[in-house]
Amino acid sequence: MVREWDPRTASPAELASLLDTLNAVLAADLPQDPPWRGTHLREYLSEVMPGERRISWVAQADPAAGGVPGPILGHVHVLLLGDIGVLEVLVHPSVRRTGLGRDLARVAARRVYQEGFQSIGVEVVGGTPAVAFYEALGFSREYVETRSVLDLSGVDWSALAEMATGVGAGYRVQFCPGGPPDDLIEAYARAKAEVRDVDDGELRPSSYDPQRLRDSLATLHRRGMKPYIVLATHDRTGEVAGLTEVVVPAQHPTRADQYDTIVVQEHRGYGIDRAIKARMLLELRSAEPTLTEVQTWNAQANEAMLKVNAELGYRPDREWCEYGVDVAELVHRLGG
Ligand SMILES: CC(C)(COP(=O)(O)OP(=O)(O)OC[C@H]1O[C@@H](n2cnc3c(N)ncnc32)[C@H](O)[C@@H]1OP(=O)(O)O)[C@@H](O)C(=O)NCCC(=O)NCCS
Repeated sequence: MVREWDPRTASPAELASLLDTLNAVLAADLPQDPPWRGTHLREYLSEVMPGERRISWVAQADPAAGGVPGPILGHVHVLLLGDIGVLEVLVHPSVRRTGLGRDLARVAARRVYQEGFQSIGVEVVGGTPAVAFYEALGFSREYVETRSVLDLSGVDWSALAEMATGVGAGYRVQFCPGGPPDDLIEAYARAKAEVRDVDDGELRPSSYDPQRLRDSLATLHRRGMKPYIVLATHDRTGEVAGLTEVVVPAQHPTRADQYDTIVVQEHRGYGIDRAIKARMLLELRSAEPTLTEVQTWNAQANEAMLKVNAELGYRPDREWCEYGVDVAELVHRLGG
């Protein structure tokens, strides 16, 4: 049975059952990824940025004898932001290819259509059944990135310490656990906004104006995701010349996520990219002693970034794709 589901009021047993399904999905599709923990799972599933909405449904098996609620075997949510709905469908491996994924996609697509949105986007992990699933539903591939993973046990820490100091004169590098200091928020947002015009878009969320940046940091904290930032400031102008962001999620704290790394155009060529990324890893080593891996996503065309990542020891892991579809077409195809 598929029903609308609110993670804010869900019972602990429902959350635990959903976590079991998520971990069964990971074990089947991404066996190298660390299993998730239940820490802040409710907040992770319910907290959103101001102006955004997430609507969720679950598929629950029939109650067992004695009325014990059945396990949650499927889950779908759609995040409504801007003019698009971002979809995520999960089906337990034991009940796949029975049409449940299609049922979950249908209920979400109908709602997105009723809410007046025109397109649906989804992140699809290369080499998993999701590729054939979304292609069968008429989604097309719009963008591809490569995910790379750094195993911290293989890092040459003394080489890294040298890299961290290799920044040109006239710049100051600083570590900011929790987020950029308040007096640098405006300069930080300017650096992000400027590079947005130059580089091709990436899948990670990004914030370009000071208020959105503050909201985004607050949302991360509420969802149990701890941001760490290293930034390089230009001594003469006080501007933020470069920044790198890593988030350690309470749900999988042994593997951190690299978010944006940006070096503003006029400050390129001074070793900032290498130095800030190396400094970040050195700092994380003491700030998050249980961390064992960092994962990052890069556009395949971004050769400079891929080169620096390879020097740091990142190994390409999988394709990570963005697919999209017109909502009306999807609803029609699924029988809406
Ligand atoms: C993708 C997913 C939702 C599909 O769920 P499902 O219930 O098996 O999908 P359905 O049974 O509704 O399949 C619908 C159609 O998709 C296609 N499809 C789905 N899985 C397929 C597969 N493994 N190979 C080929 N085609 C497939 C088929 O055309 C299928 O129709 P058919 O069975 O009549 O041939 C499920 O595999 C899943 O949860 N994957 C993980 C998704 C994810 O987000 N992971 C993130 C962390 S890895």
